[in-house]
Amino acid sequence: MWVFSRMPSVHPAIAFSYPGIAEDVARLRRLLAEAIRLLQRPRLVEPSILNLACGRADETGVLIETLCLPEHGGSYVGMDLRVAEIQEATRRWKHGWLPHGRVEFRVADASLTQHWAEAADKDIIFVRHQNFWDDPATWDRIYRNAMARLKPSGLLMITSYFDREHELALACLRELDAVILLDLPHHASRPLPDAPGKSVDKRLAVIGHSGV
Ligand SMILES: C[S@@+](CC[C@H](N)C(=O)[O-])C[C@H]1O[C@@H](n2cnc3c(N)ncnc32)[C@H](O)[C@@H]1O
Repeated sequence: MWVFSRMPSVHPAIAFSYPGIAEDVARLRRLLAEAIRLLQRPRLVEPSILNLACGRADETGVLIETLCLPEHGGSYVGMDLRVAEIQEATRRWKHGWLPHGRVEFRVADASLTQHWAEAADKDIIFVRHQNFWDDPATWDRIYRNAMARLKPSGLLMITSYFDREHELALACLRELDAVILLDLPHHASRPLPDAPGKSVDKRLAVIGHSGV
């Protein structure tokens, strides 16, 4: 069920591992809030949220606060291949964020359909800094699995570091018969010095099932 209400601010007590991340996630929060406003989607009661390829899942608090009403519970799962990142995410986010719900992090290969076997269908699947051009065949399988586990009214949200990588991912999703509901450039995105054109959450796209 979707309900409109005031959004709380980001929890003040979280210490991130690197300088600049707190500001990045605060900017991501504003970007997500803008997307939700444009889509006229209110926050969710008892949602099922998957943070896919989540790494350290720095954005966990922002996702929970922006997308759902935490006092009503729900389920938030982070999934990634990397053990150390999942351990860090678990330490930082497992307790206190959905007091009436469940927060958990799993090491899993999202390209393998069997690793989704126990997953309930999701209201939101979020992929921050999706990595399509690292391995297009793997990401094609990841997106197939994600769309198969997205509820009919559910939303897949992706952000990308690079314009070109973002466009490749959207082309892949269109091939899977998904619909691009929104594609927002992030004007306040922080440029990163390690590659030309790379920038934090440079684009945000929101994707749904066709015909819904
Ligand atoms: C660019 S990083 C982004 C990490 C995090 N979302 C962020 O924004 O900091 C891409 C992530 O995708 C994860 N990944 C790549 N292939 C994966 C797969 N098959 N299953 C699960 N995670 C995968 C990597 O381990 C890595 O953490």
